[in-house]
Amino acid sequence: MSKRKKVTIRTLFEKVEAGEPISWLTCYDYPTAYFQEEAGVEMILVGDSLGMTMLGYDTTLPVTMDDMIRHTKAVRRGATKTFLIGDMPYMSYQPSNEIAIRNAGRFMAEADCDAIKLEGGAEMAERIHAITRAGIPAIGHLGLTPQSVSALGGYRVQGRGALQAKKIIADAKALEEAGAFCILLEMVPDRVCKIITERAEDCIIMSLGSGPDAHGQLLIYHDMFGLYPKFKPRMAKVFGNAGEIILKGLQQYVLEVATKEFPQPENWFTIKEDEYEELLRLLEE
Ligand code: KIV
Repeated sequence: MSKRKKVTIRTLFEKVEAGEPISWLTCYDYPTAYFQEEAGVEMILVGDSLGMTMLGYDTTLPVTMDDMIRHTKAVRRGATKTFLIGDMPYMSYQPSNEIAIRNAGRFMAEADCDAIKLEGGAEMAERIHAITRAGIPAIGHLGLTPQSVSALGGYRVQGRGALQAKKIIADAKALEEAGAFCILLEMVPDRVCKIITERAEDCIIMSLGSGPDAHGQLLIYHDMFGLYPKFKPRMAKVFGNAGEIILKGLQQYVLEVATKEFPQPENWFTIKEDEYEELLRLLEE
């Protein structure tokens, strides 16, 4: 178990007060969660992006609550002290306040989350209000919202035009007023992100590809380490190409099995001579 102190909402607001940026990553499994916590990451999002990064779907839409709960529980086992956020999957909150509260409650009760995140602007303020009134901390998500990728016309920057930017700024205020303690801005222009951060009164603003003028940064873990083969978003920095290392290792394994270089004696187990003799005798009976 980690020696770190539990990260709480209070810890996060203290960082904001101190002007210290918050680090946030996605994570979907136990060992990665362990390493992220060891590294000192403050917030972990079990994103519905797991539909693409872990399950191989083309979008996040097929992801279910049960998928999310299984992965979130695994992450919590690896990261017991990190601030853990469950991402509400498609149609787990859109239909009604009651459905939203029940599913948000599952993240808290079954997966020991600290908060949930959902996508959408002012139209989702009512859901945020209902969830926070049920005692569950909620994070909003504006800009590129992958569950609406079809309506948004693809994975593209949101708020480049003044009118759309004004709407995102108004949406951020609506979510804050509804009770969101944090808002993620994904692929919003840097100066729009800066305005939202400056106007936030009691809300932590996090950036994913939206520039440096937020209270912290989020990255998709698979993009950081070259682990998603289909594409690499421009905003993602590759901190190490684990995908390349893994591929080379796999190719080497295939080669060594073919050439009988693997396995070597240190890679297998033996039986003592007397037991082996006895075995041969038994087989002849
Ligand atoms: O599902 C996810 O990982 C997300 C990020 C794209 C922010 O929502």
